[in-house]
Amino acid sequence: MESAIPGHLTVERTQPRRIPDDHEPPFPAMVSRFPQKVRQVVMAYFGLQFTGDPPDGALGELDTALAGEDGPAHRDRAQQTDPAGHTDILSIAYWDDPEAFDRWITRHRESWIGADQPADGSGRWIEVIRPTVHEFETLFTTEDRPEGIAMLADGWSGEIQEHAYWGGVRDRIPLSQTDPMLGSGEPAAEADGSRVRVRPRQGLCLIRSGQDWSDTVGADREMYLNEVEPELRAGMDFLRDEGRAIGCYANRYLTVVEDGRPVDKSFGMSWWRSLDALERWAESHPTHVAIFGAAMEYLANMGPDAHLRLYHEVSVVDADEQYFEYLNCHAGTGMLGAC
Ligand code: HEM
Repeated sequence: MESAIPGHLTVERTQPRRIPDDHEPPFPAMVSRFPQKVRQVVMAYFGLQFTGDPPDGALGELDTALAGEDGPAHRDRAQQTDPAGHTDILSIAYWDDPEAFDRWITRHRESWIGADQPADGSGRWIEVIRPTVHEFETLFTTEDRPEGIAMLADGWSGEIQEHAYWGGVRDRIPLSQTDPMLGSGEPAAEADGSRVRVRPRQGLCLIRSGQDWSDTVGADREMYLNEVEPELRAGMDFLRDEGRAIGCYANRYLTVVEDGRPVDKSFGMSWWRSLDALERWAESHPTHVAIFGAAMEYLANMGPDAHLRLYHEVSVVDADEQYFEYLNCHAGTGMLGAC
C-alpha cells in the first residue's frame, strides 16, 4: 500500500490527515500517476446548448480545431437534457501543456464563442480551469480503463491508503498537506458585449465523478440500474435544483457520447464554492449518503461479480486559474446561475 500523493510532491504536513498511519481501507482503490515533468494541466469544457435538433456544423468545426495544432492530449464528449428541454453537449478537453492551450484558445476562441450571436441560435460556453499538480487528485476502482485527466497519466499507483473514509479526497490532494484550501471571494459576472464572463472565486472546486456500467450483465446490471442509479439521479437532481444553498454552484448529470451515440457511461460534474462544501455534501447529505449506501449494498451483494467501474477527479484552483465565458445561454447555465 502507498500514499496517494507521489513522492516528488510529498512535503512535511502542517495539516494532518484524517486517518491514523495504520489505516487499512476495506477495499482497494488506485490513483493515476503523471510524468514528473507535468507541472500543470488544463481541463476545458466547451458547451453547446440548444432546444430541438442540434445545430448543423458547430461540433464538426470544434472537433477539427481540437484535432489540430496545439490541441488537447485527450478529449471526450457528453450530453444532458434538462427538464425545460435544453440539450447541452459538452466537449471536454485535457492538456498537460498550458502554453499549448494558450496558443490553441487564442486561435480558436472567436470561432467557438465569437462576440456575435451564433447564426444557428445556439448557446455556447467555455469553462476552463488549470490546476497545478498540487491542486488535483484522481480516484479509480479499477486500473484497466482510465478516464478524464487520467488519460494523460503514464501509469497507476499501487493500492492507496487515503480512501474509504470521509476526508480522503482532501488527503489525496497534495496541497492539502500544508493548506486548508478555504478560498475567498464571491462569483461576479461582467458583460463583454453579448458574452458574459464570470469570475468565480479563489478556491473554486470541480468534481467529475464517473460511472461505467458497460461491462455489467444480468443481476449486476439490474442492481446498478434499479438500485444505485436512481439514488445517483436523485442526488444529481438535488444538486442541480437546490445545490446553491449548500455551496454547489452548478451540477450536470451527463451521459457519455462515443462515435455520436450515448454509451453506458455517465458522470456528474459540478462546480463548488469550495472543497469543504463538496466534502460536507458527500459525507452528510442524505442524497450522497444514499448513493454511498446503495453502492455498498451493491458491492456486498455482487462480490467479485460486480463490474461497475467508478472514478473521479477533484480540483481546487486559484482565482487566476479559472476562465468562464457564456454566450446566448439560459440564465441557469453553469456559473451564470451562481451570480
Ligand atoms: C453511482 C455513483 C456514485 C457512487 C457509487 C459513489 C460512491 C462513493 C464511494 C464508495 C466513495 C468513497 C470512495 C473512497 O474513498 O474509497 C465516494 C466518495 C465521494 N463521492 Fe461518491 N459516489 C457516486 C457518485 C458521486 C457523485 C456524482 C459525486 C459528486 C458529484 C460524488 C462525490 C463524492 C466525493 C466528493 C467523495 C469523497 C468524499 C471524501 O473523501 O470525503 N460521488 N463516493
